[in-house]
Amino acid sequence: MQIRSWADYEYFYKNSLEHSDEFWSAVAEYKIKWRKQWSQVSEIDFNLGKINWFLGAELNVSENCLDRHLESGKGDQIALIWVGNHPNEEKIFTFRELYREVCRASNALEALGVEKGDRVVLYLPNIPEVVISILACARIGAIHSVIFGGFSAHSIQSRVNDCGAKLILTATGTYRGNKWIDLKANIDEAMALGCPSVTKVIVCERDSAHGFFSQSYDLKWAEWLDRFGSENHLGASHSAGDPLFILYTSGSTGKPKGVLHRMGGYLTYAAYTYDIVFQPKENDIYWCTADVGWITGHSYSIYGPLANGVATLIYEGVPNYPDPGRFWRIIDQYQVAIFYTAPTALRILASAGDDFVKKYSRHSLRVLGTVGEPISPETWQWYDEVVGEKRAPIVDTWWQTETGGILISPLAGISPTKPGSASFPLPGIEPKILDDAGKEKLGSGPGTLVLARSWPGQMAGIYGDPERFYKTYFAPYPGYYWTGDGAQRDDEGFYWITGRTDDVIKISGHRLGTAEVESACLVHPFVSESAAVGVPDPITGESLQIFVLLKEGLKGSEQLAQELMDLVRKEVGSIVSLKKVYWVPGLPKTRSGKIMRRILRKMAQGEKTHFGDLSSLADPAIIEMILAILE
Ligand code: WTA
Repeated sequence: MQIRSWADYEYFYKNSLEHSDEFWSAVAEYKIKWRKQWSQVSEIDFNLGKINWFLGAELNVSENCLDRHLESGKGDQIALIWVGNHPNEEKIFTFRELYREVCRASNALEALGVEKGDRVVLYLPNIPEVVISILACARIGAIHSVIFGGFSAHSIQSRVNDCGAKLILTATGTYRGNKWIDLKANIDEAMALGCPSVTKVIVCERDSAHGFFSQSYDLKWAEWLDRFGSENHLGASHSAGDPLFILYTSGSTGKPKGVLHRMGGYLTYAAYTYDIVFQPKENDIYWCTADVGWITGHSYSIYGPLANGVATLIYEGVPNYPDPGRFWRIIDQYQVAIFYTAPTALRILASAGDDFVKKYSRHSLRVLGTVGEPISPETWQWYDEVVGEKRAPIVDTWWQTETGGILISPLAGISPTKPGSASFPLPGIEPKILDDAGKEKLGSGPGTLVLARSWPGQMAGIYGDPERFYKTYFAPYPGYYWTGDGAQRDDEGFYWITGRTDDVIKISGHRLGTAEVESACLVHPFVSESAAVGVPDPITGESLQIFVLLKEGLKGSEQLAQELMDLVRKEVGSIVSLKKVYWVPGLPKTRSGKIMRRILRKMAQGEKTHFGDLSSLADPAIIEMILAILE
């Protein structure tokens, strides 16, 4: 089942909606090696929040990414290229070598007592061990939960405890540009805060320059591998419905949610979408710049390309180290054919000037991708003209942690494109745009983006909280999956994603909930209440600003602002930087007590009069009072 032309797309799109089960059966048979066939393709009920794919089927996810390619004669082809932060630091693994490493890690994990269904937290940067340990967990059926290195000890602790992890795998640290990030110190702090379910912390040594102070719970990964890591491991057969991983992500309210993906549906969808969107060819080198700690790294640095037998490159460092030519240099050095990055990286690199790009040939590039936030037409054009010299089609891929894989995107070199539009839904995906009353809008116009039917990559639940799963995603518009994004369809049916309509913000493509920032501020004894907002920013997409109401009789100061900035980083992580703090005498609220953040967002952008509908505002006088302060 290949989709290689626009005619194929149109045929399969129609077919996928009319004969959904047959369509997904064909996809699953074509993309995945199953140990046992399914007895039922899907069992879906949006009204109950029930999502099940490929019932009764069995597979081993790791076998699909590795063993299968050895059997088909690809053992000596490149599977993984690791590029370190420092130029010229690299490690390359063929499929056979990666297979051996994953077998060793699987055996070593089992020797540590890790069993199927156990949760393993991976607080690992973009180093080969993150790929190896993810595939090892998948192989033995342990549920991995990667935590991005930019999250603090407090964030680690709450995630570890939420999923009840048995083990933490981490590294001494990682290099990002000129900085050394001491990851182990964050783990030690999290352990000191209390992670009662964790029996051991396994440490990978990033290099010989940084050792670690040995705690009673520490084990050196390399030593353990030497002792127990034999090179063969027979991956067991797992049910398609067994959990593959949990990835925490921010929502509008409350603590981050443990998004749960299951083996069969997730892998099928990652493999299928990787193939049709990027259109890889034999011997391609593919590079996704995302950190493995985010969903993009899961689906499109690891599972998608490896399930398709495509060589994947991961990079440890930042785009502008040692200079803003680094990405293009890596592309030339490894002859990267398919390149997938985020608009925020493109904005940083575009602002550094075209000379850094033009210094390199970039002739190997065939496909360019973008993800994570809306891309402006200007940035899209720069990507197209300067980076790709109009030779490489752009795929603007819209999706979410919850969707497991890409839902709306052009197919490289096949679909028509428009700068700034994610274009059309993939076969099997049925987006709808709803108006304020929740009615489907036909034809063109803006509204709330929802999905009218399930797809195999759809998250299966929130770990440990089925009620929250239903309430968050299915209760807002009964019968639909609610995305939290706004979108617009134009006269020709192209989709344009306008961004979140809830209190989720994207800073440099990193997803963050305003609620997390606000509860961090509340830890400060002087703070009575606060409201965080995302304000448009030319480089980071959005920047974080906060309106703070202090307790009776207290006054704001530079020093207090600094304390709050430090506090937020300590509570949430280094990924958050508070750009501005406003001291206000009160917050605009509805009569039912909900903060009206859209008003504050406008104020932060300098708006003084046009705040839209204020009829639900409890105390209209607050507007003038806040404006007077901002003056
Ligand atoms: C946003 C990242 C516009 C969107 C894969 C979504 C995008 C959120 C695009 C999910 C795109 C992602 N155009 N917006 N191509 N891709 N988004 O969970 O707001 O980190 O809801 O997953 O990113 O972020 P997440």
